Parts: sequence; C-alpha cells; structure tokens
Amino acid sequence: MSSKAVKKKVPPKKAVTKSVKKTAIKRTPAKTEMYASLVLQLRSLLKGEYDFIANTANFSALIYNALPDVNWAGFYILHDDVLVLGPFQGKPACVQIPMGKGVCGFAAKQCETVIVPNVHEFPGHIACDSASNSEIVIPLFDGERVLGVFDVDSPTLKRFDDQDAEGLNELVTVLVAHEEGLDE
Ligand code: SME
Repeated sequence: MSSKAVKKKVPPKKAVTKSVKKTAIKRTPAKTEMYASLVLQLRSLLKGEYDFIANTANFSALIYNALPDVNWAGFYILHDDVLVLGPFQGKPACVQIPMGKGVCGFAAKQCETVIVPNVHEFPGHIACDSASNSEIVIPLFDGERVLGVFDVDSPTLKRFDDQDAEGLNELVTVLVAHEEGLDE
C-alpha cells in the first residue's frame, strides 16, 4: 500500500491510459439518463450545505451506490505536493500519494482525466484493493489549479469509458462550483 513501493517509471500514456476526447463520445441512453439523474440528486444533496467534508462524503456515497460494478469511490485532496485521502466509500486505502505517483498522481500532474482499462498494465499503479482491475481518475480544478482528484475503481476490466469520464467530470464540476459559491 505504501507509495514508496511504486517503481519510478513514466507510464506509457498511449498504451495503458485513455484521455477523454470531447469529440466522438459514444453515448448510451441508459448512461446519459443515469448521469443526468445523478446531477439532479447531487444538486439536491448539496443544497444549502457548503461544508467540504460533508459534501465530498455524500458525493462519494452517491457515486459508489449508483454506479454499477465499482468497489471504491473517493477523493484525494492535494496538500502541497501530496494527495491525501479524503472522504470515500470502499475498503481502507493508502493515505498519501505523491504528485506524479500512481494513477491518481499521474492524473493530478497531467491535469487530465485518466481512464485505465487494466490497472495491472499501468506502471506504478498503487493497489489499495486487490479486487480492482480498472480505474478512472478525475482531477478537480479551481481555475487552472488542481485541488485534488476523484478516483473510482472497478473489479471489471475496461469498466470505464468516455461517457463515464464526461458524466463524472460534470458531477465534480457541479461540486466544485457549489463549494466556490458559483452556482447561486
Ligand atoms: N489506484 C490508485 C490509488 C488509490 S486507490 O485505488 C483507492 C492509484 O494508483 O493512484
């Protein structure tokens, strides 16, 4: 679980990760409906509450319980150059991830959403739950500054696609805008 065990190797982006491209996303009506419903549920959960821990805790619970086939969903918040475990659902996880390390650190450093179809092929992947086989990590931004990441793991290979990336990005954007008072 220690991030010190991570090999110092730059992940070959093209082979094992997938950045979200805004164009040509293949959407299924069921997922479109699910993410639209999650946005409504999230707005309702956030209403009138601005506590960051309360809102990120409910956000994790909402996603963990709504998305099929996931075994972990939660936040890592950036403190200086280290991502520190925040509210989550799932098994206990590693507490600190240095910037650039693991999938979370990679996404935070690259400032982009990262989809990993097979975590066992991602050099430096940090295994918190041996059941995880695929992963998606979405950075949270305050303008151009990275605040942290939202990480979701699945026991199924290739669980996440561009539509998940799009939907989860919309949800974290709603959360951050709310915390910053931009949705009033
Ligand atoms: N797999 C992540 C570590 C966090 S856990 O999955 C909860 C990574 O490689 O950064």
